[in-house]
Formats: sequence, structure tokens, C-alpha cells
Amino acid sequence: MGIQWTQMLAVGDPTIDKQHQELFERINRLLEACSAGKGVEEVKETIRFLGDYVVTHFQTEEKMMRETNYPDYLKHKAAHDKFVESLSELNESIQQEGGNVKTVIVTNRLVISWLNTHIMNVDKQFGKFLSERKQ
Ligand SMILES: [Fe+2]
Repeated sequence: MGIQWTQMLAVGDPTIDKQHQELFERINRLLEACSAGKGVEEVKETIRFLGDYVVTHFQTEEKMMRETNYPDYLKHKAAHDKFVESLSELNESIQQEGGNVKTVIVTNRLVISWLNTHIMNVDKQFGKFLSERKQ
């Protein structure tokens, strides 16, 4: 069982949406590994991916926000910084304890709540700003 990308999640900017879809694919891979009983092996790979992904992806969004003088830039960036922090805590615990059931659960929870709260609300607000700006 995976999670589906739907048009409802679209921010409306093709670069951002493509990067978001990549995140979906990646979390689906972890969910599939979990159902196959291989979550612990996959979680380290997921964290490694996320470490690189957030740098590129957050930079893309933040650069666009600065270029368009987005009024909620600082608030949005603060949410990104907080996610990076949670990710680095998770990474630290994986380095110390290795991948285990707990890290798999924490990773799933972190990313899925990110999809539900950040992409669904915060990123979509920026998308709305972008589309209104074009009119
Ligand atoms: Fe964002």
C-alpha cells in the first residue's frame, strides 16, 4: 500500500511539483519495503536520500520566494529549517543505533506529516501566490 500523488497536491509550478513527486516516490519505496519486511534496510537509504533532497528542494523553493518577494518567505523558510533539524536528529539516531523499527516509524511519520501539513498547506499557499502573480 502506497500513497498516491494527486492533482490536489499540485502547487502549480512544474519544478516544485516534480520534486514533490520525487519525494512521494521515495516514501512509497520505503512503505513498500516495510510491507515486504525490509523497512530497516531501506530506512538508511531513505534518510540518505532525504539529506540531499531537502538541500536541493528547499533551495529551489526559497530562491523562488526571494525572487518573487514572497511575503511569507521567513515563515516558510523557518518550517524548512525545522524539518532539516528533525531530519538531522533522525540521522544522528540512525548513526548511533542503526536502522530499527523505531527509526522506520519515525521516518514514515516525519515524511507523511510533512506531505500532509507542509505540502498541502504551506507550499500550496506559495503556489497560489505564484499563480495570482502571473495574472
Ligand atoms: Fe516548502
